Amino acid sequence: MAHIQWYPGHMAKAKKEVQSQLSAVDIVLEIRDARIPTASMNPMLDEIIKNKRHMIVLNKQDLADPQQTKEWVKALSGENKLAIALDSKKLGDMKIFRQALKDFTQDIQDKWRNKGILHKSIRVMVIGIPNVGKSTFINQFTKQKKAQVGNKPGVTKGQQWIKIDKDFELLDTPGILWPKFEDQEVADKLALTGGIKDTHFYKDDVALFALEFFLHHYPDAISNHYPINAEDVHPPYPDLLMALTKRMGMLEDYDRASDKIIRDYRDGKLGRMTLDRIEEYQISENIEVSD
Ligand code: G4P
Repeated sequence: MAHIQWYPGHMAKAKKEVQSQLSAVDIVLEIRDARIPTASMNPMLDEIIKNKRHMIVLNKQDLADPQQTKEWVKALSGENKLAIALDSKKLGDMKIFRQALKDFTQDIQDKWRNKGILHKSIRVMVIGIPNVGKSTFINQFTKQKKAQVGNKPGVTKGQQWIKIDKDFELLDTPGILWPKFEDQEVADKLALTGGIKDTHFYKDDVALFALEFFLHHYPDAISNHYPINAEDVHPPYPDLLMALTKRMGMLEDYDRASDKIIRDYRDGKLGRMTLDRIEEYQISENIEVSD
């Protein structure tokens, strides 16, 4: 993959902005893409938020492999950290989320009550890399709750708190962090899922990455969706892309065919597929695999 730039200046600015807001919040809600739970995280986040309560939302679970998501939720939850999978477009998922958030922060409320502090809301900040669904999540979670509660110290001017209910207030604009896409595989995964602008990569490079990945992990996905027999789906991948282009009636327009493959993946038309594999993560983190 070529020409994907990582701007240290952007990263430093984003880090500063987030840090300036942190003192005003009780919990950081980090949104990631359930299809790429590691590629969609910001590598500096733990360092930035330090001991702050941290909830990880694996968003777009409707597009991810359910078995993988189940394992990811387990692997990413731990002390002071809770992961939950969501489809932010689904209102019903917000009820599940609300209850999980309440349970996860109950001890903070209890501590306040014991000190005689009543009627105080837990303040929540949403954070994440571009396109993971931060705005969708905020809109859905705050549906019909647009009563803003004004500026507070430590919050960038213009930002508002939205009162969700008696328990929670949410900062209305999310903190945006940048992914670290120095690694080619991470860049390919971000490009395929829409985490990098389409103008920043060559579509055929990403389509070739996708074909290889699909064949390796979801072998029937290509022949199930495109007019090609399963026995014709094999490397070399450039030949496979050429064959698919022709069979889709696009002659030699490989860019158009690549674009279609990328879009079909993003729209879930090829099936629910997770690009970051839990098995690889468990090996890299030395996590014991559960049955
Ligand atoms: P951001 O603030 O983090 O940048 O992301 P945003 O909410 O703008 O969402 C980016 C895209 O992801 C949007 O699609 C949005 O609809 C989609 N999205 C967000 N959450 C979910 C989810 O849980 N499941 C699925 N399937 N999609 C989700 P878009 O194509 O850019 O716009 P549109 O189709 O909504 O018009």
